[in-house]
Amino acid sequence: MSDEKPSEKPVVLTCAQPTGRLHLGNYLGAVKNWVSMMDGNECYFGVVDMHAITIKYTPAELRKNTLDCVAQYLACGLDPQKCSIFVQSHVIGHTELAWVLGCITPLGQLERMTQFKDKAKKQESVGAGLLTYPILMAADILIYNADFVPVGEDQKQHLELTRDLAEKFNYMYSDTFKIPEPHIGKAGARIMSLQSPESKMSKSDANQGGTIYLMEEPSSIHKKIMSAVTDSGAEIIARPDKPGVSNLLSMMGVATGKSIPELEKEFAGCGYGDFKKAVADSVVSMLEPVRNRYLELCKDKAYLEQVLKTGAETAQKRAYKTLAKVYKKVGFYERIR
Ligand code: TRP
Repeated sequence: MSDEKPSEKPVVLTCAQPTGRLHLGNYLGAVKNWVSMMDGNECYFGVVDMHAITIKYTPAELRKNTLDCVAQYLACGLDPQKCSIFVQSHVIGHTELAWVLGCITPLGQLERMTQFKDKAKKQESVGAGLLTYPILMAADILIYNADFVPVGEDQKQHLELTRDLAEKFNYMYSDTFKIPEPHIGKAGARIMSLQSPESKMSKSDANQGGTIYLMEEPSSIHKKIMSAVTDSGAEIIARPDKPGVSNLLSMMGVATGKSIPELEKEFAGCGYGDFKKAVADSVVSMLEPVRNRYLELCKDKAYLEQVLKTGAETAQKRAYKTLAKVYKKVGFYERIR
């Protein structure tokens, strides 16, 4: 047990880098899941700008993408009345806690992180921040004493490190942190590229015909879905040897709320062309209200900034509490006020 007073509701925290445009995979695989967690939990959603500078980037783009990301999350349904949306660099404590955690992190464990190895290969020069990235991520989570962390499969190794660090700190300095649990989104929401359905839909896909952006024009979405790769054989059925059709079925499943078997029955005997048209229509009507809300929100910078101000204030209160406790436990002399 941590010696933190039990909060009424479980604390959910997740963060994402301000990468610019969100795609359908981000929405169905992640953001929709966050939206569903707002009721019944105390939720924090961070835009991690400090993580964004661990690889090559452009400052002006980072600044623009940060606010743009917030507009997209709100358009997807995150409600600032029900959760705190904040920018990582606005909250004092993340990097301070990361320093303390860094002092108990084995270097070898950082060097073994698969994401570090992948990213390091792609950089001309590797900064220390890329190596210590997972420590900052651990601090993001532990500073809020989160119970659940919605993440994708690719972040599980980082979450393992977070749990190790929390346990190690608790062991060395007495109980302080809760041990956070990963919350992996529901299966079926894994959206693959329309052009190479063996790989995840991605912003960095060389073939952009495979990626649908949330804010894309309906006509362009139609075009991409109509030219999606389908498989040999004419049946419309979800099967491992039919990754293209399976992907379209799962997209339509989430867009319409129907189950895959239901859709298979509905489209039995139907040609690929008609099927794809139906998929496109369902995706466009799911995204239309999101896109309209986004276009409205973009006109209201003052509102977006207000959301971030309130979010940072709420987050800061919780972060300070944890940081004060940690500083005391590690033996830092209390600041005279
Ligand atoms: N590393 C995560 C990603 O790239 C982003 C992230 C940073 C994060 N801090 C976090 C996710 C804390 C969950 C919790 O997706």
